[in-house]
Amino acid sequence: MRYDDLLQEIRARVSILDVVGPYVALRRAGKNWKGLCPFHDERTPSFVVNDEKGVYHCFGCGAGGDLFRFVMQMEGLGFREAVERLARQAGIALPEGGAKDRGAPDDRAKLLEVLSLAARYFRHQLTQGRAGERARAYLEGRGIPAELSEAFGLGYAPRGWDNLTRFLKSRGWEPGIAERAGLLKAREGGGWYDRFRDRVMFPIHDASGRVVGFGGRVVDSGEPKYLNGPETPVFRKRRLLYGLHQAAGALRKHREAWVVEGYMDVVSLHGRGHPRAVATLGTALGPDHLRELRRRVDRVVLLYDGDEAGRRAAVRSLEVFLAEGVDCRAVFLPPGHDPDSFVREGGDLERLVAGATPLFDGFLEDLRSRLDLGSVPGRLRAADEAARALAAVSDPLARDLYARRAAEALGVDEARLRARIPRRAGGEPVRGAAPAETPSDPLERAVVACLVHRPTTRQAFRDEGLDEWFGPGPLREAARWVAGQPDALRLAEAPEAVRPVVARLTVEDEAGLPEFGELVRRMRLRAARQEAAEVLRQLRSAEKAGDAERVAGLLRRKAELDREVARLGG
Ligand code: UTP
Ligand code: MN
Repeated sequence: MRYDDLLQEIRARVSILDVVGPYVALRRAGKNWKGLCPFHDERTPSFVVNDEKGVYHCFGCGAGGDLFRFVMQMEGLGFREAVERLARQAGIALPEGGAKDRGAPDDRAKLLEVLSLAARYFRHQLTQGRAGERARAYLEGRGIPAELSEAFGLGYAPRGWDNLTRFLKSRGWEPGIAERAGLLKAREGGGWYDRFRDRVMFPIHDASGRVVGFGGRVVDSGEPKYLNGPETPVFRKRRLLYGLHQAAGALRKHREAWVVEGYMDVVSLHGRGHPRAVATLGTALGPDHLRELRRRVDRVVLLYDGDEAGRRAAVRSLEVFLAEGVDCRAVFLPPGHDPDSFVREGGDLERLVAGATPLFDGFLEDLRSRLDLGSVPGRLRAADEAARALAAVSDPLARDLYARRAAEALGVDEARLRARIPRRAGGEPVRGAAPAETPSDPLERAVVACLVHRPTTRQAFRDEGLDEWFGPGPLREAARWVAGQPDALRLAEAPEAVRPVVARLTVEDEAGLPEFGELVRRMRLRAARQEAAEVLRQLRSAEKAGDAERVAGLLRRKAELDREVARLGG
């Protein structure tokens, strides 16, 4: 049986209710079942299961997925292990290869062993011989001397499809184990190939310095720039921090950690006298990361890009910090810089960090710059966003202090602001769902819901390239992912950012959702109007500049767009 068929078979035979049932007392609620979420503390149920769609979702903490994901999340297993466990429960025979070396307790030890061997292999490729020459030159060009490269165990995965595969085989390793370690991939027709090819390799260590996974960067330029290994029983991206092992001494000494966004930033900062730097593995900074850090430091400083995305990323992690009660500050680098380029050009990071603003102030600043506090709706919206953040604060005294600060900064009455903090039955504030889990644009949301509930619309979505009409964000990612799925969504395989969004839409009621064609019309109308507004702006500046030719061109475009708007019934 092919692996895909196995997954299908399990989905067909096992009900998600039977999987969730032993952990959560469920009650029927319309088409769904409801209960207390097993993944966070709550007193009123916000955990929902839809049996027909085979999906669970928590409206409180945003957890969600299918039956495989539930087992992974509940039992801390890798995808393969979850599949194997469910297969055994359902009495389905595993395909060969899977059964032979399945998740025994000594499995982790084997994964660690093969990962460490691979790290030595990549290291050897980088430092010895011809294959690694380009990668060596590249690292040198980026100002990474040999000792630094050594300290981080940097390596090189050579060009070609099966260098590592053959090497591991020659050392007597089962390819199946190397696959579960995230090093190899199975070929469709049988056999294996190297996951990482022609890449500079960044081994990722756990806190005790064992190699648990890899990130690989293209040498020079290419797409994707970084490739990260998949989640495995030893590679838990939500918990791991790149550079933590190397930073341990400095964290103890300064009681402060700097969180940056890139692997290169970590290496570069360590090499330039800032060994306090660590990075997430391409994911958002989450509660598990903070728990790791809180044990070691009193304060976390985020060193993010000064651009819109960097600021958003910082603000998004605010609630996690508030919930965990960790002192956090943020530093935004000058436009166009990341920490690596900043220090390389002689920038003084210590000084920037010394003047870092508390993240909560940065959040208020962001509200002020984004919303028009001069208008009543703007101020209300700001108050609501602040109240939602305040709901995350677990310490009541801290919540009071923050509320006072927010009320002052936004120019609203403190008592009224407090009254807006969302509460749950027991009187305790509920944790606000992270913004990423409550996608806001109603039209985009409806389109994704359509894609989720009506698989026949997916083809049209792809054909029309409708993702172009989405603004950037999780809804667009979700739309792209769903549009590429066969009838049954494979939620366990969905990217981290997408899964909760899709799970949530799946358990929500689809009644009242407009026809897909109608949604497409509205999307087009919106895009045409947006472009028309943009053209109008350009027109004004072209007129000011007296550029007659450009004015004529823009007028033509404007007329076209006006016709389009009229045609679409706007
Ligand atoms: P950056 O592109 O900022 O990384 O992505 P960087 O370290 O500054 O890269 P250089 O300087 O160009 O070499 C930040 C992080 O986002 C993740 C990686 O974890 C990376 O370190 N990422 C980025 C990916 O996972 N995939 C990508 O294609 C790009
Ligand atoms: Mn960089």
